[in-house]
Amino acid sequence: MTVTTDNDSYVFQGLIDRKLPEVQGGKGCKIIVEKNGKVHEDIFDGITGAAVGALGWGDEDIHGIMSEAAKTHTYTFPSLIGNPQSEELAKFYIDNSPEGVFASALWCCSGSEANENAMKIIRQYQVERGQSKRTKIISRESSYHGFTLGALSISHNPRAEQFKEILLDQKELCLKMPVCYPYRFMKKGETEEEYSARLIDSLEKLILDNDPTTISVVLVETLPGSSLGTTPPPKGYLSGIRRICNKYDIVFMLDEVMCGTGRSNPNGKLNCWENFLTPEEAPDIQSVGKTLGSGYVTIAGVLVSPKIKKAYVEGTNMVIGSHTYASHGFNCAVALGVQKKILGNGLTKNIFEKGNLMGAKLQEALLKEDNIVGDVRGIGGFWSLEFVKDRATKEPFPYKTDVAHRFEAICFENGINVMGMQGNIDFVSGDIALLAPSFIITEDDVATIVERVTKSVNDLTAELKAEGLF
Ligand SMILES: Cc1ncc(COP(=O)(O)O)c(C=O)c1O
Repeated sequence: MTVTTDNDSYVFQGLIDRKLPEVQGGKGCKIIVEKNGKVHEDIFDGITGAAVGALGWGDEDIHGIMSEAAKTHTYTFPSLIGNPQSEELAKFYIDNSPEGVFASALWCCSGSEANENAMKIIRQYQVERGQSKRTKIISRESSYHGFTLGALSISHNPRAEQFKEILLDQKELCLKMPVCYPYRFMKKGETEEEYSARLIDSLEKLILDNDPTTISVVLVETLPGSSLGTTPPPKGYLSGIRRICNKYDIVFMLDEVMCGTGRSNPNGKLNCWENFLTPEEAPDIQSVGKTLGSGYVTIAGVLVSPKIKKAYVEGTNMVIGSHTYASHGFNCAVALGVQKKILGNGLTKNIFEKGNLMGAKLQEALLKEDNIVGDVRGIGGFWSLEFVKDRATKEPFPYKTDVAHRFEAICFENGINVMGMQGNIDFVSGDIALLAPSFIITEDDVATIVERVTKSVNDLTAELKAEGLF
């Protein structure tokens, strides 16, 4: 394995003046990473990049899938000449979602692009059906929908805050409803249903205060990831949003870029919302990405319900505008091959079961001991730890202690790759670490994850104690 000694970086990403750790290869759930001149051969990828790698590294069928895809497609501009690969992928997603929920799909290259496109699809939908006054988008405090300016405008987090002067109007256009965060904001003695009802009441108030006939869409992450740390919605919350959207004739959108496409589905299929909603309560539009191509291709998408499709068909029957690489035939063919393999091998079912086992074992190993973990939460293949200074009061660590990134670094030394994030409570304080392993994990892999994460928690707890910070 070649180890470069030149530490200058020519890539304008992350750190500027030096290289980040560099991946040298991998197989299955393990990656080989060079960091500061040392090659780490045994890193278990506990987060698969950013909850992307469903099939893991070096899948044995991927060369065949890619080679076939390369033989059958180079490129056409999708608004002028379509391709069978994008049609087949759309049909596959529709057929593997509850019957009648989705009718059409747009394929693009990233989750941010998917959300940008969804905002425009919704806007055109309102115009097509003669509701052009409906311009306002309601999303949620402490949310992440991507890093383009539009996606940041509908997000609410420290990354968006950095760019607030150049975002879309936050008072007239991109409104925010309260965060849904039971660990911190469900009151003592309140049931999940009561907490949900309180949040739905605030949503309704926001709608009434802002002229319901001008609200276009309510949008949330089904299972929030990087913003809040895999906080499952309390009972009745998502169905409450659906009910309010029906009441005021507003579009209900779910962002499943990080939690969807098999990562947390209870039925061996694709959508995360199937944990919480019946097909009758399904979203009108949904963004997806990440595991769709499992990192082998850059692909994401927007799924559109029959209701939205019908309004277009009965209106202009045209989607305004397109990206050059939308519906890319090669990407769609590879994603379809990846998804067929995942479903054919029962890997969605596997990650749901093994992921829940991982979560339960982490709760058991961490929550009874004296350490910095306040909460372990998640569903299926998507889990988080939240770190606190005091478990009883849930007091967070000071921002400058940087617990999340220190935990990430210790995990790496202990042979597991996780993602540490800060600012989940109030943009500044709050430390979480995310886990989203590959769908192929075994019970032995679960044991490895739990052992390495537990060791890392104990190591960091000891360090913070020694520093007088815990
Ligand atoms: C919920 C959610 N939406 C959208 C995005 C943006 O996706 P991308 O990074 O592919 O643009 C992300 C990325 O993490 C996400 O978690």
